[in-house]
Amino acid sequence: MSNPIYLALDLPRLDAAIALAQKVRQHIGGLKLGLEFFCAHGQHGVHEVAKIGLPIFLDLKLHDIPNTVAAAMQAIHVLEPAIVTVHAAGGRAMMEDAKAAAGENTRVVAVTVLTSLDDADLARMGIADSAHDQALRLADLAQEAGLDGIVCSGHEVAAVHKRWKHGYLVVPGLRPAGNGMDRADQKRTVTPRAARDAGASVLVIGRPISRAEDPVAAARAIEATL
Ligand code: C5P
Repeated sequence: MSNPIYLALDLPRLDAAIALAQKVRQHIGGLKLGLEFFCAHGQHGVHEVAKIGLPIFLDLKLHDIPNTVAAAMQAIHVLEPAIVTVHAAGGRAMMEDAKAAAGENTRVVAVTVLTSLDDADLARMGIADSAHDQALRLADLAQEAGLDGIVCSGHEVAAVHKRWKHGYLVVPGLRPAGNGMDRADQKRTVTPRAARDAGASVLVIGRPISRAEDPVAAARAIEATL
C-alpha cells in the first residue's frame, strides 16, 4: 500500500516549501497545497512543486454556483491534481458538476463542517443540528452526489467509514504520539496510526513535520508507526 501521508506545505515562501518537500519526499506519499499557497504562488507555484514528482492535493475548498465551480475545476485540469476539495455546503448539483468537470485521475472530496465552527456558530446560521450531525448529513450528500469522499476529523472517521465503506477519507489535524505540540489539547488529538486504523485513506500532516527540529526524522518516525 502506498504511503498515505500528505505533507501540508503551509509555508509562505515557495523556495522553502520546495526545499522541505524535497528533504522529506522519501517518507511521504503526497503534498497538500492550500488556498493560501495557491493565492500566493498560483499555477506556477503548483507546477514548481509538482516537479518533485509526488501527487498533489489542491485544498482549494471550492464553493460557488455549479457553473463557476465546474469552470474552476476545468481550469486546474492542467495541474493534474490527485485530490481537490470542494465545500459540501455548495449543494448536490455543485458537487455533481465539480466531479464531472474533474480529470479522471482526480479525486474530488468534500469538506463538511469546518472545524472552526461549533454548534453555536451553526445555530447562528440557522442550522439547528450539532456540528457532528451536520457533518454526517453533508457526508451522505457528498456520497449521493458521486464524490470520491470527504475531509473529516480523526474523531469522525470511524463513523463516516461505517456509512461509506469505499469513501476516500482525508483526515487532517493529526498529532503523533509523544510529539510535544498541542500538549494542552492532548485529549482531543488523534495519532496518524489511530486515524489510519479507523479508516482514513489520506493523513494530512503539516506542522508536526514542517516545524520539527529535524523534519526528515519526524516524517520517518510517523511513517514507521503506520
Ligand atoms: O495542524 P497541521 O499543521 O498538521 O495541519 C495540516 C493541515 O491540515 C493544514 O493545512 C490545516 O489547514 C489543515 N487542517 C484542517 N482541519 C483541521 C486541522 C488542520 O483542514 N481541523
